[in-house]
Amino acid sequence: MAAGGKGGARRQAAQARHVVRIADVARAAGVSTATVSRALSAPAQVSPAKRDKVMAAVRSLGYTPNAAARDLRAGSSRSILVVTGTRANPFFAQVLEGLSDTLSAEGYAVVMGTCGNEAQTTHLLDLVHAGRLDGVVAVSGKLPAAGGRTVFGGKVPVVSICAEVEGAINVLVDDFACAKAQAEHLIGLGHRRLLYVAGPEGNYNELRRFAGFLAATERAGLFAGEVFRFSGDFLFSGGAAAALRFLDLPHRPTGVVCCNDEMAIGFIKTLRVVARIEVPRDVSVVGFDGIEFADYCEPTLTTIHQPQRALGETSAKLLLAALRGEAPPPGGRVVLEARLRVAASTGRAV
Ligand code: RIB
Repeated sequence: MAAGGKGGARRQAAQARHVVRIADVARAAGVSTATVSRALSAPAQVSPAKRDKVMAAVRSLGYTPNAAARDLRAGSSRSILVVTGTRANPFFAQVLEGLSDTLSAEGYAVVMGTCGNEAQTTHLLDLVHAGRLDGVVAVSGKLPAAGGRTVFGGKVPVVSICAEVEGAINVLVDDFACAKAQAEHLIGLGHRRLLYVAGPEGNYNELRRFAGFLAATERAGLFAGEVFRFSGDFLFSGGAAAALRFLDLPHRPTGVVCCNDEMAIGFIKTLRVVARIEVPRDVSVVGFDGIEFADYCEPTLTTIHQPQRALGETSAKLLLAALRGEAPPPGGRVVLEARLRVAASTGRAV
């Protein structure tokens, strides 16, 4: 017989029958049951010292919280729907990292969704309307809507990142002012013939940025014949296509404003490879976003640096605040600072 004999075996059996409850953990850790519950569901809300005590008690007592039952009681799924378009652009990768890190620190899981077709959109709307998700974050204006249904209706808070959407809490930068700064930078370097390479037609950022670009050219007194606009799509390939059109122009602009960095990088590479045109010797190019590649391409890209991680983190914090019943920010929006970062792709007009 093992050490402890029959008595030890009985004690073990009794322990096995005893269901460890949250109150047992609280007693062992010397904290309240509310603190135990917070330490397990939203660890960031509890001091590290208390968290350690709770976790030590959880381990030694073998406590397993019934998360599903707890969430059911609270009427919560602890899941947030995040709807995006493409996730290939590194801009979105940074935004999503800030968003999901902040949400998971508070015990929330992220459900990634896209609205590529009606079936996908309907599925997302079904989840939201059935109360299977606690909140919605839409990135870049991608809001599920189909058959007259949307994610709005008062059931869950909705946060929109990068695009202003009525009824949502909006987290964005001032696209108009930033695009104006892009064009003014080129104009300040003496460029009088400018090309604007656009984002997708009708896209919120595209509309605001083009308006900012035009405001700068009008302010500088540039004539219509000195200002060009090519369509684009926020992709490397869209920038490459714009570069081929640029090469066909009889009297080429000397300054190019791109609606995002991917297009600027595709534009610069294509000019060099196809026509040996060098930036900024022959033409200056400015981008928008401040993705990491902008610092590693050749030449390094002058661009508007958007606070990508902070856009995600701020959105998550506002969503969590709304879930706690706190009021939205004034005007329902938070505008984060974005700045022009001058690098090697822009120089004086010759
Ligand atoms: O590069 C992608 C663009 O779409 C970014 O400029 C961002 O603002 C987004 O909405």
